[in-house]
Amino acid sequence: MASERNSEPAQTAKTDRLWYKDAIVYQLHVRAFRDSNADGVGDFRGLCDKLDYLRDLGVTALWLLPFYPSPLKDDGYDIAHYTKVHPAYGTLRDFQAFLKEAHRLGIRVITEMVLNHTSDQHPWFQRARQSKPGSRYRDFYVWSDTPDRYPDARVIFKDFEHSNWSWDTVAKAYYWHRFYSHQPDLNFDHSEVRRSLLDVVDFWLDMGVDGLRLDAAPYLYERDDTTCENLPETHAFLKELRRHVDERYEGRLLLAEANARPEDTVAYLGDGDECHAAFNFPLMPRLFMAIHMEDRRPILSAIEQTLEIPASCQWMLFLRNHDELTLEMLSDEDREYVYRVYAEDPQARVNSGIRRRLTPLLANNRRRLELMYGLLLSLPGTPVVYYGDEIGMGDNIYVGDRNGVRTPMQWSGDRNAGFSSANPQRLFLPVILDPEYHYGSVNVEMQQKNPHSLLWWMRRIVALRKQHTAFGRGSTHLLEPDNHHVLAYVRRFRREAILVVANVSRFVQHVELDLGQYAGMVPIELFGRTRFPVIREEPYFITLGPHDFYWFALERQRPD
Ligand code: NOJ
Repeated sequence: MASERNSEPAQTAKTDRLWYKDAIVYQLHVRAFRDSNADGVGDFRGLCDKLDYLRDLGVTALWLLPFYPSPLKDDGYDIAHYTKVHPAYGTLRDFQAFLKEAHRLGIRVITEMVLNHTSDQHPWFQRARQSKPGSRYRDFYVWSDTPDRYPDARVIFKDFEHSNWSWDTVAKAYYWHRFYSHQPDLNFDHSEVRRSLLDVVDFWLDMGVDGLRLDAAPYLYERDDTTCENLPETHAFLKELRRHVDERYEGRLLLAEANARPEDTVAYLGDGDECHAAFNFPLMPRLFMAIHMEDRRPILSAIEQTLEIPASCQWMLFLRNHDELTLEMLSDEDREYVYRVYAEDPQARVNSGIRRRLTPLLANNRRRLELMYGLLLSLPGTPVVYYGDEIGMGDNIYVGDRNGVRTPMQWSGDRNAGFSSANPQRLFLPVILDPEYHYGSVNVEMQQKNPHSLLWWMRRIVALRKQHTAFGRGSTHLLEPDNHHVLAYVRRFRREAILVVANVSRFVQHVELDLGQYAGMVPIELFGRTRFPVIREEPYFITLGPHDFYWFALERQRPD
C-alpha cells in the first residue's frame, strides 16, 4: 500500500503508474540553474523561481543531479550524507518547498540514489577505516590486503585512476572503488549496508519524490573471476529493491544507469520486476554515428537490439547529459571513428568519451539539431533533455574533468548570464564566453523574444509530442526502404499510428516506402496539419530536404 505522501503532482491520477512513459524529462543540476542568494552557486529557491520556465517548455519531470552534502570532488556523486541537503543549495525545507511547488505545476521529481559508493568523507567510511578488520562497521566497505583481487574489472575513470584499489593509511588496507579513489564502494554482501540504503530510499520516497535514478547500477557486487559488472547478485538486489518500493509506494520510478552492451542493459528491466526504466546507452552514440556517416544503419541496429522489453518498462532516451559522451561500449573501430569526426581536439576527450555539449558537437548546425531532437522525441522511449541544450548552449573543454558541460544556465545577457548577481569571480564555474556561444547572444531571454529561436521550436515539438500517446507508449515498426540515408518507422498505440521519416544525410533524398498495410489512410504532417496524398497499395513516394524529418499521423480518409 502507498505510504503517506507529503506532496504529489497535482494533475496526476494515482492510477497512472506508467506516467514515466509519457514524460518529458529535463535534467539539471541545482547548483547550475539559478542562484537566489548571490553566493555564486545555484540553489533550490532559485530553481523554484524558474519552474514556470520549465512548465512552459513542456517538461513533466525533473531529474536532479545529486544535491546532498558532499566534498564535490565528483560533482556530488561523492555523497557525505544521504538524507541532507548541501548547505550551498539550501535546506531540507527548501527542497520540500520546491517539491511541493513542482507537484503543484504537475512536474514530477526524480532524484539520485547513489548506491554503489559514498564519499570517503561519509561517516560510514570514517567509522569503517577505524574499526577492526572483519568487524561489522569495517565491513561496510570492501577491503583487501593486496591490490590484486578482481583483476578483470576495468578502470572506468582511466584518465584519473590506474587501479580500482587504493591504500588507506588509517585502516592499513586497500579498499575497492570503481570510480575515483575518494569514492569507496559499499559492500553489498553486508546485510546492514543493504538495509541502510533501503532506509535512504524510504526517506526520499516518504517525502514524495517520484523516482530514483540508480547511479552506477552494474557495479554493486564483486566476485572473483568476473568483470564485477552486471552480476546475478546485483540483479537480485535490484529486484529486492523493486519489491520493497512496490510494497510501500505507488507509482514511483526506478531508473537504471547502466552503461553496458545492449543485452546487459536490457537485463536491468528484468521481467518487469526490476527497474521500470533504463537509459538507452546503446542507442545514444549510434545516433551521432548515423548522422555523421549519413546512414541509418547504426540507429537501426541499436533499436533492433533494444526493442523487446517488458510491457511496463521504458527506455529513457538522451542525446547528452552531464558526463562525457561515452564511447566505452563501441567497438574500437567505431570509437576511433566517433573520436575522429566529433573530437579532433584531444582536449575534448576524457576517459572513453567526449566532453562536449550537443550544439558544439553538431557544429551549431540548426538542421542537424532539429533532426536529432526529432529522433529523440519519436524513437521508442521517453526523452531526457539536458539543461541548456534547449537553447543550444556551448561548452568549455578547458575547465577540467566534465565541468565544461556543467556551466551556469544562460538566462539573459546580464551579468553572469542572469544566473547570479554574485561577483563573477565567485561563480562555481565561469559562464560561457566562447564567441560562438557567448551568453550575450545564447540565452533564454533573447530566444523568448524570437519565435524562430531553438527554444520556441523546442516548445512546439514537445507540445506536439505530448498530443500523441503513441510516441511514449506505442509499438515500433521499422521500415527498411532501399535508400539507407532515410530512417522510417511507424509508432502505433491503440487507434493512433504515426509515421516518422527522417533523412540523416546532408543532401536531398527521395524514398519509396512500403505502406501497403495503411492503404486508404492519409498522412497528415503534424507540424502544419498538411494533408498528403492518400496511401495506396503501391510504394509511397516522399522527398526530403537535407536533414529533414517528418512526423505524419496516419488518419482514415474523411469522406468528401
Ligand atoms: C555516473 C554519473 O553519471 C557520473 O557523473 C559519476 O561520476 C559516476 N556515476 C560515479 O558516481
